Order: sequence, then structure tokens, then C-alpha cells
Amino acid sequence: MSGKVAIVTGSNKGIGFAIVRALCKQFDGDVYLTSRDEGRGVEAVDLLKKEGLSPKFSILDINSSASIAKFKDFIQTTHGGIDVLVNNAGIAFKNNATEPFHVQAEVTNGTNYFATKDFCNAIFPLLRPHARVVNVSSSSGYLKKINGKEPESIELQKRFADVNLTQDELSGMVNKFIELTKTGNHFEHGWPNSTYSVSKVALSSLTRIQQRELDEARPGDDIIVNAVHPGYVDTDMTSHKGPLSPDEGAIAATWLALLPQNATTPRGGYVWHDKTVVDWANGPAPGEY
Ligand SMILES: NC(=O)c1ccc[n+]([C@@H]2O[C@H](COP(=O)([O-])OP(=O)(O)OC[C@H]3O[C@@H](n4cnc5c(N)ncnc54)[C@H](OP(=O)(O)O)[C@@H]3O)[C@@H](O)[C@H]2O)c1
Repeated sequence: MSGKVAIVTGSNKGIGFAIVRALCKQFDGDVYLTSRDEGRGVEAVDLLKKEGLSPKFSILDINSSASIAKFKDFIQTTHGGIDVLVNNAGIAFKNNATEPFHVQAEVTNGTNYFATKDFCNAIFPLLRPHARVVNVSSSSGYLKKINGKEPESIELQKRFADVNLTQDELSGMVNKFIELTKTGNHFEHGWPNSTYSVSKVALSSLTRIQQRELDEARPGDDIIVNAVHPGYVDTDMTSHKGPLSPDEGAIAATWLALLPQNATTPRGGYVWHDKTVVDWANGPAPGEY
């Protein structure tokens, strides 16, 4: 029960897979490649084994409360705690997707924000002192991506960045966006025409709340949560258009996962793929990708 444990969600392919590969090389402990599909997960583990690495495997679908409960129970029983958690699982509709916008709003936020939040709330009690949590956000998760009609969008930005914002209030905002998409008047209420941006801004905002809550609940435990933009990466999500390789996209997330004990910065931050800590609330705007 004493060895260290790292977990990466949605890691059967893409950036998550590359983060597992990097952690297998750099992290002193067990690294869990997790997948919502057993076949895809086992296949991914076998690929890394062929490279001489030894990831462990577990099924985990963050959209399923039963899957989360089973996974938590397994980790608690087998290891007793968690030292590194990378919330990488995420989805994005393609630009030519035919699903109505309000359906995309519900599904995208359902995984990227609500499921990630629910998974964290279930699993955070297992975080050990000095644990590192990395939320894989995006350049689309930069606050100023809330760019619907002004001045409503500016008001929304202020609410997202409020240092006293609670998880319930944040969830209420995301639910309000989803509701507004059903009548198509989200833009005039300040929201962007991107469901993905809303989900990732919400995740970046959640990161700040999580850091504050952990600081309050477990002062001195040195638990750090950060959000990261991995870069524009060559994966299925981008239809392989991104200029960065998955291994390059894994660099900043892996760095944050391995921040040394008692690191003072970044904490509750928003970090660019080149490891620059970006002032999420006030800018200046980070680079293009
Ligand atoms: N690629 C980029 O340029 C880019 C840029 C900014 C941010 N990001 C973010 O980086 C993360 C990884 O993206 P990627 O480009 O590597 O995408 P990807 O190749 O599409 O991989 C996404 C992974 O998430 C998994 N996943 C989706 N829903 C899940 C769920 N409910 N439970 C568990 N796993 C789930 C997928 O599993 P399946 O194989 O079963 O679908 C897959 O393993 C995402 O959060 C994405 O938003 C990517």
C-alpha cells in the first residue's frame, strides 16, 4: 500500500496516452492508464509494454457514477491513496457535426465539466499529502473566450473569475448556458458560440475553486491543482491537424504532475504548453496555440 500512484483519465490514446508514457519514464510509482473501453485500454497498455514500460490498467468512464465508484473502491483497496491525478478525458464535436447546438452544449459540458467535477469530488478524498492534480483544459479555456455580446460577456467573465465562486454557482452558470442554447439566445446573454469553450473555461474556473477548497480543508497538505493548455496537438480530436505531437502535448501536463514538494507556483493556475503561467483572469492573452 505504500508505493506512489498516478492516474490519467481517458488515456487509451492521444495526449492522455502520451502523459502515461511520460509518467512511466519519470514518476517513481505505479501509473494507471485508464479507458472507458476495456479493449482499447488493454491494446494501449500493450503498446507501451512493447516500449519496455509497465503501466497498470483500469476501466474508468467518468460519465458513469457506477464506474467512478468502482474505480475509487479499487484504488482505495489496492493502494490506499493517490499522488498524481491527470484529468485528461475530454470530448469535442467536429466543426461539421450535425447534432443541434443545444445537444452539443449538453454533451460537451456533460463530460468536460460536469463529469470531471463529479469524478474529482468522488476521488479527491484519496489524495495524499503533496498530491498533484492536473486538469487538461485548452486555449479555449482562457477566460476571454467568453466572448458573446458585450457588456453581458464581461459580466460573465467577472463571475467566472470571482475568487469566492463556489462549485454550485459555477455549475449553475454552465446549466444556464445549456438552457439558453435551447432557445438560441445564449450569445445575446454574453455566451460564446462554442460549447467547447464554455466547458473548458468552466474547467479552468473549477481548477481555481478546487485549489481554494483544498487549501481550506487541508491546510499544510501541499496539494496542488493546475489547469493546462497542452497545445494544438496531432490527435483524433483535431483530426490530426495539430502541429505538436502527443508527446509534445504531454510535456507541460507531466511537468505539473511532477511539481516538487512544497512548490509555491503554479498553484490553481492556468499553464500554457510551453510551461508559461498565464494570468487567466487578467491576461495578457497567451499565444495562439
Ligand atoms: N488535441 C488538442 O489539440 C487539444 C488542445 C487543447 C486541449 N485538448 C484536451 O486534451 C485532452 C485530450 O485530448 P486529445 O486531443 O488527446 O483527444 P482524443 O485523442 O480524442 O482523446 C480523448 C480521450 O478521452 C477519452 N474520453 C472521452 N470521454 C471519456 C469518458 N467519459 N470517460 C473516460 N474517458 C473518456 C477518450 O476515450 P475513447 O477513446 O473511448 O473515446 C480518449 O481516450 C482533452 O481534454 C482535450 O479537450 C486537446
